[in-house]
Amino acid sequence: MSIPILSARSIVKSFAGRSWFGGAASAKRAVDDIDLDVNEGETLAIVGESGSGKSTLARILLGLTKPSSGEVAYYGHSIDAFTALDWSMFRKAVQPIFQDPASSLNPRMRVHTTLSNVLLRRRLATRDTLDPMITDLLGSVGLDAAQFHDRYPHQLSGGQQQRIAIARAMAVRPRLIIADEPLSSLDMSVQAQILDLLVSLKSNRNLGLVLISHDLNVVDAISDRVIVMYLGKIIEAGPTRQVLGNPASDYTRSLLAAKLVADPHLARERRLAMDAAAASAAKSDHPELQSRTSKPDLPGALQ
Ligand SMILES: Nc1ncnc2c1ncn2[C@@H]1O[C@H](COP(=O)(O)OP(=O)(O)OP(=O)(O)O)[C@@H](O)[C@H]1O
Ligand SMILES: [Mg+2]
Repeated sequence: MSIPILSARSIVKSFAGRSWFGGAASAKRAVDDIDLDVNEGETLAIVGESGSGKSTLARILLGLTKPSSGEVAYYGHSIDAFTALDWSMFRKAVQPIFQDPASSLNPRMRVHTTLSNVLLRRRLATRDTLDPMITDLLGSVGLDAAQFHDRYPHQLSGGQQQRIAIARAMAVRPRLIIADEPLSSLDMSVQAQILDLLVSLKSNRNLGLVLISHDLNVVDAISDRVIVMYLGKIIEAGPTRQVLGNPASDYTRSLLAAKLVADPHLARERRLAMDAAAASAAKSDHPELQSRTSKPDLPGALQ
């Protein structure tokens, strides 16, 4: 059996509650005893209504928020025992993509600077290889370098900003992308394009993808497994086809009922766009995963 890229065991995150009258504030569990694994090359979706703890869990998986208890491990190595070198390797290997691309890009940096900073800081490019690498990166997210490399974020559309955020994540050749509602700030037509891009990049490079989404049509179209969260807990988990096709819990059934789009024309358009993204995912090459029986060697300090 292969070792997961990322695993979480018994993760709890409590936030102090607010007391309006100066009494003792009770802690609230945003994430409540979560176990999960993310395997190489798979797309794991996390769904659940607003406030169910999805973003808090994502930040814990990214090592950005420390859990109150429980453990996150990268290829079986607890991140609690990471050295500075391990963190630097992890920060490269596990890349976030957030909902609002504008706020994840530095407004004072041109596209070229955003990408060159990452490539040079991570020693992935030299001054000589920088420009061709940036051209390649922009091409891989469907942007023409000549047209875009001098632009500031405010000179880009939302979809173009998200493409730059994706290019920046891809620049460091990650193994896993954790995308928290990467489509929801975008227009519907652009959503399908960005979804298509994420799916093809992921398949071509055999990346793992954790996709947090409110949109069960997207989840249905592209994920292999799905976790359904409610009030910080996992209510249901399993292969997407099974969980969404034949849900075991009333909660999942109610999420599915809520996803039905009232306008039939809109619903059809959305369905077609998502089907196109799913078809392109199926077309992409998906190399066989090699099974591993022991902890794999890791680049850098964890070896
Ligand atoms: N820094 C914080 N301090 C206090 N409470 C927080 C903090 N971050 C999140 N919470 C609370 O934890 C719970 C889970 O929040 P979280 O943002 O993880 O939910 P979510 O599932 O991502 O919601 P949404 O779908 O709206 O993005 C919420 O009740 C939220 O108010
Ligand atoms: Mg959230």
